[in-house]
Amino acid sequence: MLKVEHLKKNFGTVKALRDASFSMGRGEIRALLGSNGSGKSTLVRVLSGLNRKDGGKIYLDGVEVNVTSPKKSFHLGFSMAYQDLSLIPKLSVADNMVLGKEPGGKAGNIRRAEVLAFAEKMIADLGINAYPNTIVSRLDLSNQSLVEVGKALYRNPRVLILDEITASMHNDQVQRLFSCLNKLREGGLSILFVSHRLKEVYDFCETATILREGGSVKDIRLEDAAEGELVYHMTGHQMESGVRNESGGIPDKPLLQIADLWAENALRGISLDVKRGEIAGIAGLEGQGQREFLRVLYGAAGRWNGSILFDGRPLRLKSPADAVRKGIGFISGDRDREGVFAERSVSENIFIVRSAMKKLLGLVSPKKLSKEAENVIRQLNVIAAGTGVPANSLSGGNQQKLVVGRWLIMKPRLLLLDDPTKGVDVKTRSEINTILREMTKTGVSIIFSSSDNEELLHVAHRIFVFYEGKIFRELGGSCLDGQTLTSAMLGMNGSGT
Ligand SMILES: Nc1ncnc2c1ncn2[C@@H]1O[C@H](COP(=O)(O)OP(=O)(O)OP(=O)(O)O)[C@@H](O)[C@H]1O
Ligand SMILES: [Mg+2]
Repeated sequence: MLKVEHLKKNFGTVKALRDASFSMGRGEIRALLGSNGSGKSTLVRVLSGLNRKDGGKIYLDGVEVNVTSPKKSFHLGFSMAYQDLSLIPKLSVADNMVLGKEPGGKAGNIRRAEVLAFAEKMIADLGINAYPNTIVSRLDLSNQSLVEVGKALYRNPRVLILDEITASMHNDQVQRLFSCLNKLREGGLSILFVSHRLKEVYDFCETATILREGGSVKDIRLEDAAEGELVYHMTGHQMESGVRNESGGIPDKPLLQIADLWAENALRGISLDVKRGEIAGIAGLEGQGQREFLRVLYGAAGRWNGSILFDGRPLRLKSPADAVRKGIGFISGDRDREGVFAERSVSENIFIVRSAMKKLLGLVSPKKLSKEAENVIRQLNVIAAGTGVPANSLSGGNQQKLVVGRWLIMKPRLLLLDDPTKGVDVKTRSEINTILREMTKTGVSIIFSSSDNEELLHVAHRIFVFYEGKIFRELGGSCLDGQTLTSAMLGMNGSGT
């Protein structure tokens, strides 16, 4: 039904797409895989009419089509949900869903009831934690992503393209989304699915196209392909199996001691210790207090009660800057909102925390800075045309690497991570996790909150499972397995089904 042949797209000297081809049938769910910067989003933007192709052909039902504008793309039956979201923060959920395609045609003639009914249905089907008139900026990223899907579905597409839309969603949200989309697939909807979480890809897709450096290198049926094979085609290298830490940290010297923490109606008596050199994982379904917990620890929460000892002394933070001064670093899961300064250069993005601390930036030679920036870029394998280019010319995953990189050079005592590797490809993710483990060997403690269970199980020494603002269970040692974790997240004891 859809066929893409030898697609090319350049940005100046950067060849974002060199030679990308794939085809898909009606009702097919195909994964589009590739490392950060391999050209997936560029391909999506070409199909959506946001970027004009520089070469190649696109066919629909055997007829060549020219996607010259977003409007044209829409009329051809394409609809996208974007990695960077296309929502307007100040508008409501319902208004965002129908944005640019309000029913009734002419502005002023919008049939409000129809809009609200559609939004209600999407909220129910996708399990969005909002009302139709909730302002989008009030939602967390995972719920905003679901609104983005609702918006794409409102256009009633033939081909739905999802570009890393699940990156900040929790497992339960993803499963619900998949079951909703599977129903639409039965009605003939074709779906192109981009994700760095291979488990999702296996759960949801039948086939995959793998891109490497802008070219399609492999077309594969997923049931015939092991994970290692996918990674091999994405990177050109075999994946080394990472070593898992069974236990970690210096036993009797906690860096952080928290007792009976209550806050913002969201935390209802949290007590836990984090040892020096330990990676403490935080797990849970979406919205069980994990976010608020981290906010207290980096000085961004409102009122809270309880006791927090940091290195044996009471911790009361006035602001995130205060946290940084005390040696507490923070990587936010909301890259777009809090992390990357889009217009600033790559090296400015790496050094922004240090300059916020007014520490030495003026005293260190520019040469040394760019050398350090280059080190970070090499260590994390950031694909950028140089250290001077603006951050927004990087692919999504490479932007996230800048956020991680800035903390690596800061050497904090406690590092708080909220989905730090969101949108980062498999290989780099395992590299970042290795770097984090290396950091803990120097006594740094890490609190690692993630919506990705596989990753938590891989990186954390212990996992605290949040449920309704409390710690429902602490997993460590032999209890660190997927099934125990999943049932604990649902508030169930034991490892039964
Ligand atoms: N507007 C732009 N200006 C300059 N270069 C760009 C622009 N958009 C993308 N690129 C470059 O094109 C290449 C492909 O980027 P793209 O965003 O398509 O990657 P991706 O596969 O979606 O990666 P990710 O998994 O990190 O999202 C990258 O090298 C990126 O830096
Ligand atoms: Mg992308």
